[in-house]
Amino acid sequence: MDTLKGFMAFSRLGATLTALEIRELVKADLEKMERVIGLESVASADAVTSISRHLQANGGKRLRPILLLLANKLAGTTNDSAIALAAVVEMIHTATLVHDDVIDDARTRRGKPSANVLWGNQTCVLAGDWLYMQAFQIALRERNFAILDILITLTQMMVEGELRQLETMGKIGVTESDYMELVDRKTASLFAACARLGAVVAGASEDVESRLNDFAWNLGMAFQLVDDVLDFTASERVLGKPVGNDLREGKVTLPLIYALGAATPEEREMVARVLADRHYDNVSFSTVQTIVKRYDGIARAKARAQEFTEKARSMMLSFPESPYQRALYAVTDLVTERDH
Ligand code: IPE
Ligand code: IPE
Ligand code: MG
Ligand code: MG
Repeated sequence: MDTLKGFMAFSRLGATLTALEIRELVKADLEKMERVIGLESVASADAVTSISRHLQANGGKRLRPILLLLANKLAGTTNDSAIALAAVVEMIHTATLVHDDVIDDARTRRGKPSANVLWGNQTCVLAGDWLYMQAFQIALRERNFAILDILITLTQMMVEGELRQLETMGKIGVTESDYMELVDRKTASLFAACARLGAVVAGASEDVESRLNDFAWNLGMAFQLVDDVLDFTASERVLGKPVGNDLREGKVTLPLIYALGAATPEEREMVARVLADRHYDNVSFSTVQTIVKRYDGIARAKARAQEFTEKARSMMLSFPESPYQRALYAVTDLVTERDH
């Protein structure tokens, strides 16, 4: 299945063995999860079914379900609840991507035209809503308030994050702390919820639950910081979505925040121009890349990502050694070294 191909591509040469090891640990569960997603994504409206199929077929790293499943296995043994919740978090992720691409007016996702391009905004807003609710339906079947509590809190956190991001759009004065709060809300909170859910359905103690939560939160922070670095350094072919996109969309992310702190008034003016224009016709993307590099924006953002990764690693080392502990430790390498 595409998932596994996508996951293998996610690994890099140096990490291949570890990626294989991780894959083996969750392979059977992920396949079951894919079947659940396929079955649960059928709506009476064809567009919803087609949009979910489109996204499911075009890969995605399945990082959030992998995290949930590994956390679950670390904390106990996998049961059908973990598989169902793996499907839930991937479906919530898919719903946020469908909505996010509408909000960002994105053209590509997972190397293919994004759903908003193929089906239009109106349909995508509704399909995203449907997917959210379907994910909640599956979660509801667990008859467990702790699960619903985590998922509802999470979804509101993420939506508030997207709303706050809209408020900061086009603003050159975004601070590092504004940025960190957005990343917490839009990405790290979902990672944290995945690990926590894995622990909850394993019947883990509160201590284990909260340590897994914190591990995954740090991993999620690192993940989004790396994503924002890749927006400056990757190629569209490898990334599966356009580069230079964040600034074009009006988002000032960490590499740029760092660079702007040291840039000359003329350089700030050039960045402001792109933020106002929302295109690179007057100031090219490579000019912006040069400014970011000149003030070590990339290196500093990578170093900041590394700090989150180190924190995640040290949290993982607080668990007894096991294949799952090693796998979760190795996931931190994949996140830091990923190229898409
Ligand atoms: C994309 O997440 C959204 C971000 C948090 C940057 P992923 O990079 O995990 O997306 P897929 O699922 O692999 O496509
Ligand atoms: C990612 O937002 C997080 C969510 C989708 C909630 P971005 O807008 O930064 O992600 P990409 O770059 O479109 O994947
Ligand atoms: Mg986006
Ligand atoms: Mg992005």
